[in-house]
Amino acid sequence: MRATSSTAPGKIILFGEHAVVYGQPAIAVPVTHVRAEVRIEPTRGGDSARILAPGVGLDTRVEDLPLSHPLSVALRGVLSACGVAEPLSDIPPFTLTIHSTIPVAGGMGSGAAVSVAVIRAVSAFLGHPLPDEQVNALAYEVEKLHHGTPSGIDNTVITYARPVYFVRGQPIETFTVPTPFTIVIADTGVPSSTAITVGNVRKGWQADPDRFNPWFERVGQLVRAARHAIESGTPRTLGPLMDENHALLQQMGVSSPELDRLVEAARGAGALGAKLSGGGGGGNMIALVEAESAEKVAEALRNAGAVRTIVTEIG
Ligand code: PMV
Repeated sequence: MRATSSTAPGKIILFGEHAVVYGQPAIAVPVTHVRAEVRIEPTRGGDSARILAPGVGLDTRVEDLPLSHPLSVALRGVLSACGVAEPLSDIPPFTLTIHSTIPVAGGMGSGAAVSVAVIRAVSAFLGHPLPDEQVNALAYEVEKLHHGTPSGIDNTVITYARPVYFVRGQPIETFTVPTPFTIVIADTGVPSSTAITVGNVRKGWQADPDRFNPWFERVGQLVRAARHAIESGTPRTLGPLMDENHALLQQMGVSSPELDRLVEAARGAGALGAKLSGGGGGGNMIALVEAESAEKVAEALRNAGAVRTIVTEIG
């Protein structure tokens, strides 16, 4: 067995979070200059497989990982898909090292990216590289540990590393971006739990479906308009769509004072539109900008309290 490596990008949701859980479409894009990287080396003379993730202080034998640990679920999934029987102590000795530059717990898909890179690296190491469809399905099983009933958008956009128009339960649609555009991603620094905000929206929807359903449907219309704008090469027109999507997310109750402050700061500094991205309650927001004003908007966001900004080109 030979050393192998694999890498997977981060991601950001452009449009449609939360409504996607209720059957509406959403658009997510890879963010390629943050990445999870996994390298596997055979350990000569070693008696056990080890996992190292220096960034989070992890150094363990695979059989010592708790069964419910995301890496354990990813490993068991890929080993069984490759026809390697349990127990984990019987697998050929290797050292698997994880490095990631994707911010953790910020809605940028760090968990899904690590899963995808681990699944690809391990299956290649064992001589059974898996097709994307299977990598995606295995990564989805790990996502369920993070937030119960995920729509599957994170693992999908990260597995395919292309813009995705995602409808829960439907075949995957990737699409192209003929005219690239620039977004600034800003982190409120407030930890957010997607499980909690998804649960709150569900409670609100159960209590008053007649209020929530029209919001979800309107988000779906915005997502379809956004896809059209991207595919027809007019990304500037995404700005007002982002603003309206943010207003709907506010109504659903998933924004926060910190997110709203950053959204206002971005618009004040010349962004074409801005919204929260992902689960909300904290975490990240995104702003659509002209490439030449990206740094100015990023600075305004930091001045308004963002703990980190990332400027990235989509397409
Ligand atoms: O917080 P993130 O970026 O993982 O996104 C969650 C997206 C939701 O629509 C809120 C939930 C989901 O499973 O799609």
